[in-house]
Amino acid sequence: MAVTIINGKEVAGLIQDELAVKVTELREKGVKPCLATLLVGEDPASQVYIGQKQKACERLGILPKHQTLSATTTEAELLSIIEGLNNNPKINGILVQLPLPEHINSVKVLDAISPQKDVDGFHPFNVGKFFTEKSFSDMVDKGLFLPCTPYGIMELLKRYDVPVRGADVVVVGRSNIVGKPIALLLLAADATVTVCHSRTKNLKEVCQRADIIIAAIGKPKFVTADMVKEGVVVIDVGVNRLPEGLVGDVDFVNVSQKASAITPVPGGVGPMTITMLMANTIMAARNQAGI
Ligand code: GUN
Repeated sequence: MAVTIINGKEVAGLIQDELAVKVTELREKGVKPCLATLLVGEDPASQVYIGQKQKACERLGILPKHQTLSATTTEAELLSIIEGLNNNPKINGILVQLPLPEHINSVKVLDAISPQKDVDGFHPFNVGKFFTEKSFSDMVDKGLFLPCTPYGIMELLKRYDVPVRGADVVVVGRSNIVGKPIALLLLAADATVTVCHSRTKNLKEVCQRADIIIAAIGKPKFVTADMVKEGVVVIDVGVNRLPEGLVGDVDFVNVSQKASAITPVPGGVGPMTITMLMANTIMAARNQAGI
């Protein structure tokens, strides 16, 4: 059976077209959505991500307000900038690009962002909201800020008609940004979820049982063809820069021989993350305007 290459770029384009219409409607009501982004230091990958986020804002009619801060910025300085953004009614969403330099406590920083402007969905208030919600569709209907990468993955699965209810899903990786939240979202969508990590015993055997694998471990080509069953759906969240170029956490060439559907890197999950950030920003603007 031929493998389906899940085209995240295309789906992201379709959703962005829908979002652009929403922005136009808001602007007609005098609401101009604005996303503030903060980057501390000069990490090249983070610079690329921030650039992509700014471009997406411009494409959709969202105002991007970016500040790059020196790598020596103190935690107190960063917290004070966030407080200013929290109190500025023109700013609807705030995103602090991670990772932060070692001397800054990222938990403290994420806690400082107003939950109403937390378009990343990383604030404990918003995490708690979706932790306690039972159904994925309720989370969306109630307008929770869902973390962008997991939210984007759920949209991809939906738009490619991948059955999630009752499916055996293996998440490889347990980060706060991807592994843990995607496990919760899939659980709320009635999947049977197993979360694996670097200490998991028999990882290969666990992965071989999966109907869907979410690879978010941060190791290039970590998921190999011998670890997956025929017909598996593979979502590759990895972005690893090798001399040969960008590669994911999945050995794409060989795994795609066995998979029924698979996301490429680049052009899979990445564009969806940015798109869901835009969706969250528009929702924030609408909520803050009371529309
Ligand atoms: N670094 C890697 N992914 C993300 C993300 O989704 N949000 C933020 N703020 N930083 C990141």
